[in-house]
Amino acid sequence: MTSSFNVQSADGYEQLMGRWSRQLAPLFIDFAGVADGERVLDVGCGTGSLTFALPHAANLSEIAAIDFSPVFVEAAIRRNTDPRIHIRQADACDLPFPESYFDRALALLVLHFVPEAGKAVAEMRRVVRPGGVVAAAVWDHLGGMSGMRMVLDTVAMLDEGAAQVRSRYCFQPMMRPGEMKQSFEAHGLVDVEQTSLLIRMDYRSFEDFWQPIAAGEGPLGKYVGSLDPGLRAKVDAAVRAAYEAGQPDGPRSFTSVAWACRGIVPTV
Ligand SMILES: C[S@@+](CC[C@H](N)C(=O)[O-])C[C@H]1O[C@@H](n2cnc3c(N)ncnc32)[C@H](O)[C@@H]1O
Repeated sequence: MTSSFNVQSADGYEQLMGRWSRQLAPLFIDFAGVADGERVLDVGCGTGSLTFALPHAANLSEIAAIDFSPVFVEAAIRRNTDPRIHIRQADACDLPFPESYFDRALALLVLHFVPEAGKAVAEMRRVVRPGGVVAAAVWDHLGGMSGMRMVLDTVAMLDEGAAQVRSRYCFQPMMRPGEMKQSFEAHGLVDVEQTSLLIRMDYRSFEDFWQPIAAGEGPLGKYVGSLDPGLRAKVDAAVRAAYEAGQPDGPRSFTSVAWACRGIVPTV
């Protein structure tokens, strides 16, 4: 298995995560750095949150984007109007590009869904020229994802299955403190730096928060979709109560923190 990401539909992903990864993308680009004239690779482009933010950051010569999911690749290709952007289906662990082709390879919210994430780091390093940059960001599900932790902590009180989902969710690849930095260094990248990037996920209402998950999207959507109607009703009610927190339904804002890491491909 080369992807553990649960894909239902591109529109569902946009509602669940695309609207937030669009907000994270400029912070990640600032951290990864891009410069005029460069060739940049977006690994695990999804519906294109990073891909379509890149041309706003610099006058790049070429942007290649790949994703494992044909559903997302098709949606991103449909959105694309920029002739410098080329999107195709591929595996991060077996990138279809020659050695040293890119100035930078970036992966936004991808490596935690790659079971052998180290292989993807090795591939990103391979396709970037000496002196170029490899950078990645993953959510800190354990300590930095307040909205989803609220859901999982609430539901884990009702169902042992949810406690197991929580355990997997909190310890996906590259999420432990320092883990991504260690992997970058182990794969020969130098001057490796790790930081935290923070956004706020602002929801209009419980419906706005819960609907994408209830529709089956993402890791929690897969769990929720598997429940029998009795437990499902209890889960919906308990999560609503946690969201509302004793006040009338309405807007709520949840902080979300990503680990971000960047390293340089050595020149000798
Ligand atoms: C949370 S989404 C992030 C998408 C996009 N980068 C964004 O920020 O919105 C995770 C993406 O990683 C992709 N992915 C997971 N494993 C992959 C692999 N082995 N090769 C390529 N893409 C992969 C999934 O298909 C999915 O699009």
